[in-house]
Amino acid sequence: MEIQVYPGKQEAAEALAEQMAEWAREGSMEHIALSGGSTPEVLFDTLAEDYWFRLPWKEFQFYWGDERCVPPTDPQSNFRMTREHLFDPLPIPDAHIHRIRGEAQPAEEATRYEALLRSQLPLENGLPRFDLILLGMGDDGHTASVFPHQAHLWDSKNLCEVAQHPESGQLRVTLTGGIINNAARIVFLVTGAGKAGRVADILGGKGDAAYPAGRVAPGDGRLIWILDEAAASGLLPDMR
Ligand code: 6PG
Repeated sequence: MEIQVYPGKQEAAEALAEQMAEWAREGSMEHIALSGGSTPEVLFDTLAEDYWFRLPWKEFQFYWGDERCVPPTDPQSNFRMTREHLFDPLPIPDAHIHRIRGEAQPAEEATRYEALLRSQLPLENGLPRFDLILLGMGDDGHTASVFPHQAHLWDSKNLCEVAQHPESGQLRVTLTGGIINNAARIVFLVTGAGKAGRVADILGGKGDAAYPAGRVAPGDGRLIWILDEAAASGLLPDMR
């Protein structure tokens, strides 16, 4: 596991964009699962504004680590956020955008999405493998939409499950631990002081089992935590 700390979220986003460009130059990046929420907006804006000419956009296939069970036009939709910040400005073929259908019946969609992943992705260790999964982390230590109160979903034999937000009750479709940890590369982009306590718990070794984000440990892949100073403020100096 690698930990990279940058002064602010813009610098963290630029570092991740540069890393993605390097992997793209290596020719080893096609199937990419995106994270949702608000943190990725700065990354997507950076990619769209400063990296539009530096990545082979037409070669990528885009998926999600999770989606809210809302229509794709809903302000809560991860797809809508991504369309606004990344897809609208860039020449990405619609056929390369594999959204989780938030408007569908959740359990049926989880099944459909799992079948799509199995048909689209190459197999490694008997499971579909993403070339890159981008993840965020909630201040409760959730990642994708595996929340601490439903931590058992991480170990599901299914690649996709229906989850529920602990406060809002909102249903989600989420990837589970098996396919996440089978990725070739996993990058957390975590910024802001609100995440510092949980980052320190997880990266400091205290919370690795208690929090879903602490369960992210790719078997033979690479794991990078990209943090800004605020999110890293609880880490001891030797952790950075
Ligand atoms: C989602 C995300 C989720 C997100 C964290 C952090 O659908 O909300 O996939 O896992 O990464 O909740 O969200 P913020 O970036 O908004 O803090």
